[in-house]
Amino acid sequence: MVALAVLTAAGSGTRLGCRGPKALVELGGQTLLERAARGLADAGIAALVVTAPPGEVDGFERVLPGHVPGAPHVPVLVVAGGESRQASVAAGLEALPAVATLAGVELAEDTPVLVHDAARCLTPAEVIGRVVAAVEAGSVAVVPGLPVTDTLKEVASPMSTTDAASGPTPEVRRVVATPDRSHLWGVQTPQGFRWSVLLHAHEHGRALAATESTAATDDASLVEALGLPVDMVRGDTLALKVTSRTDLLLAELLVEGALTSGG
Ligand code: C5P
Repeated sequence: MVALAVLTAAGSGTRLGCRGPKALVELGGQTLLERAARGLADAGIAALVVTAPPGEVDGFERVLPGHVPGAPHVPVLVVAGGESRQASVAAGLEALPAVATLAGVELAEDTPVLVHDAARCLTPAEVIGRVVAAVEAGSVAVVPGLPVTDTLKEVASPMSTTDAASGPTPEVRRVVATPDRSHLWGVQTPQGFRWSVLLHAHEHGRALAATESTAATDDASLVEALGLPVDMVRGDTLALKVTSRTDLLLAELLVEGALTSGG
């Protein structure tokens, strides 16, 4: 069976402190975008749709000129993303049949389709393989993840006026609960789905996608909203999401380490 992917890369570089799109930030001389696309191609993904910030489609096409660099057999279509990650994925799904045709792949109901964040550009091929294998084995939706290591707190947000009046400054939030972390896993990408289920989940959740505040932050939660099962496989610390300057520095060290050790 062959798998296809939507690679989300339409986010801005604001939290990273850069002016352009985050996916065009370089890591060890290669953009996050190129590294993430190459990672999917190396793991055997047959074709990709990439979401770009509107206005950056041409720039993204220069990085990925119709195919993944170094993997000319893996076609790429770049589409403009939307207001939220969920809207971007929905735009990517619309273009999936076209890229499947370019790859000569028949997009069937049970074809595994991955959704992956370009910001997780160091995700090992083994993680991608585990997700695809679980869909092939019958899961309708699969997420990679790791047990959380921090203790998590739920906070009141926004703080009530009573709380604010009783002392803490506005940037201090009241803790309201400490969930039992033995059941909590942090979730990564790529998340994998049967094509028909992913499409249906996005159609069903379409109304949420208009703004970041209402949109789903991952695709699996849209499947959960349908009442369908989502399965977890083991992720990897290397699948970290490059969000802050600290993440980028860590990713640079990891890449340097891999390069100096010949990996
Ligand atoms: O903002 P966040 O870090 O959760 O974004 C996760 C991924 O979704 C990133 O790869 C980002 O480029 C992508 N994204 C997108 N469209 C948006 C917002 C984020 O494709 N509107």
